Amino acid sequence: MALLKEIRLLETIQLQKINKTLLKNNQKITLLPECSLSVKQGEMLAITGQSGIGKSTLLNIIGCLDEASVGKYHLDGHDITQLPARQKASLRNEQFGFIFQQYLLIRHLSVLENVALTLQYRNRSYQKSLEEAENTLSELGLGDHLQHLPGELSGGQQQRTSLARAIVTNPKILLADEPTGALDDENSHRMMSTLVKINRERNTTIIMVTHDQSMAQYCHRITPIDTLFHHQAA
Ligand SMILES: Nc1ncnc2c1ncn2[C@@H]1O[C@H](COP(=O)(O)OP(=O)(O)O)[C@@H](O)[C@H]1O
Ligand SMILES: [Mg+2]
Repeated sequence: MALLKEIRLLETIQLQKINKTLLKNNQKITLLPECSLSVKQGEMLAITGQSGIGKSTLLNIIGCLDEASVGKYHLDGHDITQLPARQKASLRNEQFGFIFQQYLLIRHLSVLENVALTLQYRNRSYQKSLEEAENTLSELGLGDHLQHLPGELSGGQQQRTSLARAIVTNPKILLADEPTGALDDENSHRMMSTLVKINRERNTTIIMVTHDQSMAQYCHRITPIDTLFHHQAA
């Protein structure tokens, strides 16, 4: 029993037999049927699968942007399935960073301000936010572009800015939804190498969804999403 508990503690994320029912064109559909997933602290995991199968939905559930319809969700051994929305929102802000295929940067703010804003939302002073944002952007090779607007950058640079925004808060878990989906080959590989570096240096747990096998190869573990379905939870 004690051993089992210790093993559980290493699991940062544990989903047990969840699913998500939705109305699509007035039809009830069930995504992620009996989906179970365990992710360990410090792991870098790729979840693969074709378009429309529910990858984004799964990532949104993990990141507390959405909720499962049934099943259990444990985060660091705590059952957060029934947590009230407000507490889920703080959990999301404290523990998770997100990047998406679309960079979702604010167009009229500079690269530096885009990243600093995330810290200001977390009650850091303006000055401190700018300092920390600059450090993270420089670490990601964007030190010469701090005052540029997102539209003045290449796609690869914009995605690195959105990565800076995601990691400037030093989240325990980074969720990446098709992070290379809009990038050319060279920038895709560069983005993946950067994610590997972050995982290694900061021990950030990274969960990425992708339909691109060559990007998935950078991860410790590759899980086709349908192997998680109808799965006996441990
Ligand atoms: N809120 C929603 N309402 C209705 N249908 C949705 C909603 N979210 C996702 N879907 C549908 O569920 C399916 C899976 O979506 P998604 O998780 O985005 O898949 P993937 O990321 O694998 O492409 C798609 O067919 C999508 O249209
Ligand atoms: Mg998707």
